[in-house]
Order: sequence, then structure tokens, then C-alpha cells
Amino acid sequence: MGDTESGPAKRIRKRRRNIGIGIAVAVLVLVIIVVAVAVPLSLRTFKRGFIQRCEDFKDKKGLIRSKYDCEKIWGLFEEAYVGRDPCKVPVEAFKPLLNAVPFKRKCNQTMLWSKTKALVHDFTKKRKCFETLEDTLLGSVLDEMNWCGKEGSNETFTTGCPERNDCETSAVRSFWNGASAAFADAACGDVTVMLAGSVATPFYDKSVFATIEVPRFYSPRVRSLNVVLVTQKNSVTSCENESLKDLQRKLDGGIKYNCTKMPEDKIYDWISDPEDCVPC
Ligand SMILES: *[C@@H]1O[C@H](CO)[C@@H](O)[C@H](O)[C@H]1NC(C)=O
Ligand SMILES: *[C@@H]1O[C@H](CO)[C@@H](O)[C@H](O)[C@H]1NC(C)=O
Ligand SMILES: *[C@@H]1O[C@H](CO)[C@@H](O)[C@H](O)[C@H]1NC(C)=O
Ligand SMILES: *[C@@H]1O[C@H](CO)[C@@H](O)[C@H](O)[C@H]1NC(C)=O
Repeated sequence: MGDTESGPAKRIRKRRRNIGIGIAVAVLVLVIIVVAVAVPLSLRTFKRGFIQRCEDFKDKKGLIRSKYDCEKIWGLFEEAYVGRDPCKVPVEAFKPLLNAVPFKRKCNQTMLWSKTKALVHDFTKKRKCFETLEDTLLGSVLDEMNWCGKEGSNETFTTGCPERNDCETSAVRSFWNGASAAFADAACGDVTVMLAGSVATPFYDKSVFATIEVPRFYSPRVRSLNVVLVTQKNSVTSCENESLKDLQRKLDGGIKYNCTKMPEDKIYDWISDPEDCVPC
């Protein structure tokens, strides 16, 4: 250090160096925190989100808060997939959960969808006399969620899980297949389904609706199936489409079948109509 350097200049240099070290330490600590906490945090967030949505759940009338023990429901949920190969979770693994939170039999209110999810949910949010699976407790808690377990681990993972089409029996697909089956078993009276008129085959034979829900409709529990074929401006499909004839053929004999073509715009007009429960 030269003689020319004054005391104050030296102090400033020293302070700068200390600030530099301070920042470096802070960054290092931050990196360690992010690495150590981020992954477990996402898991804790997943569980906390599950329990929060479960406790906040209100039925369609918006009145009754969940009367369920949400910690217990989480426990039953977790038991279905933890420690399992993420692609080998059988539908039956979710039985205890689905039995603990059964779907109520609500005649004339069951609303199903296939490739019309967003529209149908906008609709049932305003039309409280219709209920989709995602309007129920379990459906609303797990809608749009992705999760899995891993062999040799008792943890829940939310990243690195199979994508929707990776395997038939992922935790997510098995849950929804089991829940859809139980929901269809609880359907009674007049059942409504909104199908997409904008696709070539509105009744797609590989869909959850075709493979899981329709085979569970029996007369006289289910009186009729009312198909609303949702069309857009350039939709080519009509109620006469062959795939819809297939649907009619697959339906149990005593069930009445009805198909109505309906422009999407008109459904959105209904949604904005304040009057509740206008029959479709
Ligand atoms: C369901 O609708 C039919 C008419 O389509 C009606 O006769 C029946 O009473 C309704 N059931 C319930 C539980 O509202
Ligand atoms: C997982 O297992 C460990 C050790 O057996 C235990 O301490 C921990 O609480 C378990 N975690 C969960 C989420 O069950
Ligand atoms: C009607 O359904 C069949 C399958 O059953 C499909 O191949 C065809 O493209 C559909 N027709 C139109 C006009 O979308
Ligand atoms: C078919 O459904 C429409 C509305 O979805 C209804 O107005 C009509 O009465 C139904 N027809 C039969 C035969 O059930």
C-alpha cells in the first residue's frame, strides 16, 4: 500500500471489499436455501394446497363447508400411490379414498364433458343445478394437478412424474379413471353430456366418457342421456354423425337418447343470463 493513499480512501476500499464478501456470502446462502428447500417446499405446498382446497370446499349451493377430515383424506390419497412405480398404480388403489368420500346421488344434475372441459366448467359455475366431477370435493381438489410416488420412497413428487399419455396406470390417470367410474355410478335420472362438434368424432371411443362413463349407465337408474353437441362457426359435425350413432348403440336399452346441436355462443349467452337452472 502506497504512502499516498489516505486513511479515508483505505477505509472505503476495505468497506467495498467487505460489501463484496457480504454479497457473495448472501448469494451462496440463497443458492443453498433454494437447492435445499425448493423441492421439499413444492411438496409441502402440494399437500398444503390439497388440504386447503379440501377445507375450503363448498357444495354447489355455496353454503356447506366440507364436513370431512381433510388430513384423513390426504392420508388415504397418499396411501394409493406412495412407494409405487409411478406407472404402476392400479385404479383399485384409490378405492379406500373414493369410498371415504362417496359421490352423492344427484338425479338430473350429472353433467359430463369430452373435449369441452373449459366451457362446461364455465357453465356449471353459473348453473348450480348441474354438477361435473370437478365440482365435487375430490374433483375440485385434484383438478389440473400432477403428482406421483416413487419406489422405495414414501414421498409425493410433483415433478418428474409421467405425463398424461406416458402410461395407462399413472397415479393421475388411475385416480381420474376411478373417480369417473364412481361419479358415473352415482348418476341418475336425466344425464347431460356436452360433446365437441368441432372435432371429427364427437363420441371418441377411447375417451373416458366412452370407455368408463357410458358403460355404467343403466336403466331405470339413468332415464335419459341428453347430448349437447357444442358447435363453433366452422363445425362440420352434426347429431347424425356416425360416432353418435355408435353412442346410441352402446347405450343400455331402456335409456332415452337425445342430441341437440348448440352453438357455443348461445351457451355463453345462457351463462351470462342471471336466471338459474334454465333447462338445456
Ligand atoms: C328429474 O327430471 C324428471 C323430468 O325430466 C322429473 O320427472 C323428476 O322428478 C326429476 N327428478 C328429480 C330428483 O328432480
Ligand atoms: C417417511 O419415512 C421417514 C422415515 O421412515 C419418516 O420419518 C417420515 O415421516 C416419512 N414421511 C412421510 C411423508 O410419511
Ligand atoms: C363422423 O364420425 C365418423 C366416425 O364414426 C368420422 O370418421 C367422420 O369423420 C365423422 N364425420 C364428420 C362429418 O365429421
Ligand atoms: C331433447 O332435449 C331437448 C333439450 O335438450 C328437449 O327440449 C327435448 O324435449 C328432448 N326431446 C326428447 C324426445 O326427450
